[in-house]
Amino acid sequence: MQKLLIKGKKKLSGTISISGSKNASLPILAASILAKNVKLSNVPLVKDIFTMLELLKFIGIKIKINKNNKTIELKNNKKIVNTLAPYKLVKTMRAGILVLGPLLTKYRKAKVSLPGGCAIGTRPVDLHLFALKKLGANIKIKDGYIIAEAKKGLVGTNIKFPSNSVGATENALIAAHGAKGKTTLSNCAIEPEIIDLISYLKKLGSKIKILGRKIIIIGKEKKTKKINHRIIFDRIEAGTYLIAGALIGNKITINKIFPKILKNEINILKKMGVFISSSKNSISVRNPQKLKRINISTKPYPGFPTDLQAQLMVLMTQANGWSQIKENIFENRFMHVPELRRMGAKIKIKDKIAYIFGPSRLTGAEVMATDLRASVSLVLAGLIADNRTIINRIYHLDRGYEFLEKKLKNCKAQIKRV
Ligand code: EPZ
Repeated sequence: MQKLLIKGKKKLSGTISISGSKNASLPILAASILAKNVKLSNVPLVKDIFTMLELLKFIGIKIKINKNNKTIELKNNKKIVNTLAPYKLVKTMRAGILVLGPLLTKYRKAKVSLPGGCAIGTRPVDLHLFALKKLGANIKIKDGYIIAEAKKGLVGTNIKFPSNSVGATENALIAAHGAKGKTTLSNCAIEPEIIDLISYLKKLGSKIKILGRKIIIIGKEKKTKKINHRIIFDRIEAGTYLIAGALIGNKITINKIFPKILKNEINILKKMGVFISSSKNSISVRNPQKLKRINISTKPYPGFPTDLQAQLMVLMTQANGWSQIKENIFENRFMHVPELRRMGAKIKIKDKIAYIFGPSRLTGAEVMATDLRASVSLVLAGLIADNRTIINRIYHLDRGYEFLEKKLKNCKAQIKRV
């Protein structure tokens, strides 16, 4: 099992190019089941993407990866494919559930393994099934699989989600693309990754309108020419490196981004006293001597993202006084807290709120990654801790951070994989 070794307290300076978004790539790859011939660029070549590609190949999609220019070509001219997403592929990457909508809407049947839970929560899929049933799917659960069919095809309708779900919105959007007639999704998620999926579905021929938290999908035109799509930047990776710069940056500049998508995160860092400035496609950040405490609640976009909660918590350990983070999205997303405590962080948890006292001096330790974002918070802590930090189980990191060590090493961090 590989580990990361980090020698802390090395001031960072340099430029980091942000990769394409894992969480935009996954639904767009799944939606490519509906396309004849597409070319995706700026796809981050991380573990979850390769798992999704394996699943698409298993289904029968023709795939060509060009690692140099980071493009992926997908071809599907098949009348019949393997409409099965097996447990062995879905259990390691929950987003495998996103092939359910496309398979159902194009081939009128699908057998997809229930994804099961993960470290951060039980991760149910009831909202996905709720939306597909509304579109006319017949769904039953048997032996851990979702068995769905729509003999006459899916039919557009009005779907009002009882609660916010990124994945369920994505499944419903892709399914509605292939349904007969108009579909209106209300109370749905409108994360930037969903907006990117919508721009992709428009290229595939859907006419789609966004009105606040409502998305209207009106039928589709025949599209046959080859489709090109560039994946949006990864705002969570961007936020992670902004926090690294806020923690220990002389000056870090992140580029290949659209700063307005990070407006909320930038404001929060500014409120904490971080020196931050943005230009058209980049943001520069520098560590202030003094950091101010702050109280945050994680919310759906444009609120503060749950995927940056663990990273911001590390910054809060260096702020003066008591800060708070309320985790509203997932039921078990404080797995990084015990590991941060072992490094000297003063954190207590009560009723889904973490109370963080700072500034506290962190010391290097041997720690263990538990989920993707918790692992990167341990990297951030290692960057500011005395001595050396060893992070185990870094396969969690490899699921969603492209070239992490290389990007940090280019900014003078002392970090290596062993
Ligand atoms: C997506 O997960 C992201 N994953 C997550 O990022 C992200 O944390 C999450 O959205 C919230 O922004 C991908 O895009 C691949 P949800 P998703 O459905 O779609 C509950 C990362 O680190 N829920 O918006 O699974 C659910 O349990 C990952 O990159 C139901 O109850 O999130 C959670 O409490 C982690 N029923 C809440 O809704 C459902 O059918 C939000 O989940 C679906 C979800």
